[in-house]
Amino acid sequence: MKFRNMALAVAASALMSGGAAKAEELALVAGSIGKDISELRMQLDAFEKETGHTVKLVEMPASTTDQFGQYRLWLSAGNADVDVYRTDVIWAPQLATNFVDLSEAMKDEIPKHNPSIIQSQTVDGKLVAFPMYTDAPALYYRSDLLEKYGKEPPKTWAELTETAKEIQDKEREAGNGQMNGFVFQGAPYEGLTCDALEWVASNGGGQIVSPDGEITINNEKAAAAIDMAKGWVGTIAPEGVLSYKEEEARGVWQTGNAVFMRNWPYAYALSAGDDSAVKGKFDVTPLPAGEGGKSAACLGGWNLAVSKYSEHQEAAIELVKFLGSQEAQKERAMNSSRLPTIPALYEDPEIAEAQPIVAAWGDVVENAVPRPSAATKKQYNEVSKEFWTAVNETLSGRGSAADNLDQLEKRLRRLKRSAWE
Ligand code: GLC
Repeated sequence: MKFRNMALAVAASALMSGGAAKAEELALVAGSIGKDISELRMQLDAFEKETGHTVKLVEMPASTTDQFGQYRLWLSAGNADVDVYRTDVIWAPQLATNFVDLSEAMKDEIPKHNPSIIQSQTVDGKLVAFPMYTDAPALYYRSDLLEKYGKEPPKTWAELTETAKEIQDKEREAGNGQMNGFVFQGAPYEGLTCDALEWVASNGGGQIVSPDGEITINNEKAAAAIDMAKGWVGTIAPEGVLSYKEEEARGVWQTGNAVFMRNWPYAYALSAGDDSAVKGKFDVTPLPAGEGGKSAACLGGWNLAVSKYSEHQEAAIELVKFLGSQEAQKERAMNSSRLPTIPALYEDPEIAEAQPIVAAWGDVVENAVPRPSAATKKQYNEVSKEFWTAVNETLSGRGSAADNLDQLEKRLRRLKRSAWE
């Protein structure tokens, strides 16, 4: 509904909710990656127009690990200044007690969404957060360079390693000294847990901790996968990859200096933008398979949660409903290639036309591999931190994968004691 002015909008929203609504001032916190913040602001402006509420957007660091630390501090202090948190798919079990149960307020919306995403945000029957978009990574490749050297997009990590090396070397010989074979997320943070889970799971090495809570990471297939990645550092990937998060990898890729990149779909719209050096020269394919013969994409995604300490919960819920709606999800899919949590949108011809990756990614999302956040409950962040540390140490040349996974298993056993809590 469009209103000509704010007073009308306020009056109408009061009418729609039985006269009770008044204009509220809300604060939403969200991490900033790509054009997240400018796009969110645009949607918040539309929400303000429609409801008469105002929303302050507080920008957080790009790293999900840094955001988690900050949110945990605010929530444990019962901070009433933040009404809505944008939350990572893995946080629900750890932060559940701080958020309002959305199951009743969203009951008409829930059936439109992917049930496993709703499930991931449900803790002991409580809907802790409502989905905004989902995430499943792609292998980005330079279609122009693959064509130039007569190569196909790789189906296995071994093929990727070989193709990356050959094109990197030939491009460098031809005077393109900045060219790298492959960039990914190697910094010690949550993003590395995602990348490494993909190497391990695609190699048949499991999911760190199994869905029923068993610590499975200390196995030969997992070690082989991490050793393989160690072999990339300083050969097809720059040494600097050990401190790359999503945006550093995208920076190298989007200036035209990488043959391959592992990243989330947000990088698709940006790579196709007018200021991108790779515009018209790239495509995406699912991540390569390992010795296990299958590709594994880590399931990511972001949701919206209403703080229990908010003094504006009703308006905050309205905002969550607005940002999670089919319309808002479609707009984000079209502008910034964010993957919807509403299956129907994968069939939407306008989205397919604007951002082909979305239409092509339905199966990748369906088959994505979750991190063990449900299995390890409130201890997930510690588990993940131990994992990404062991992997980053290995990539940095401090210990073999086998030794570091052995240590990791001991640490995880100490964390778990008799059961995950
Ligand atoms: C993306 C994913 C999120 C993940 C993060 C890691 O933002 O959506 O789930 O934790 O990357 O860096």
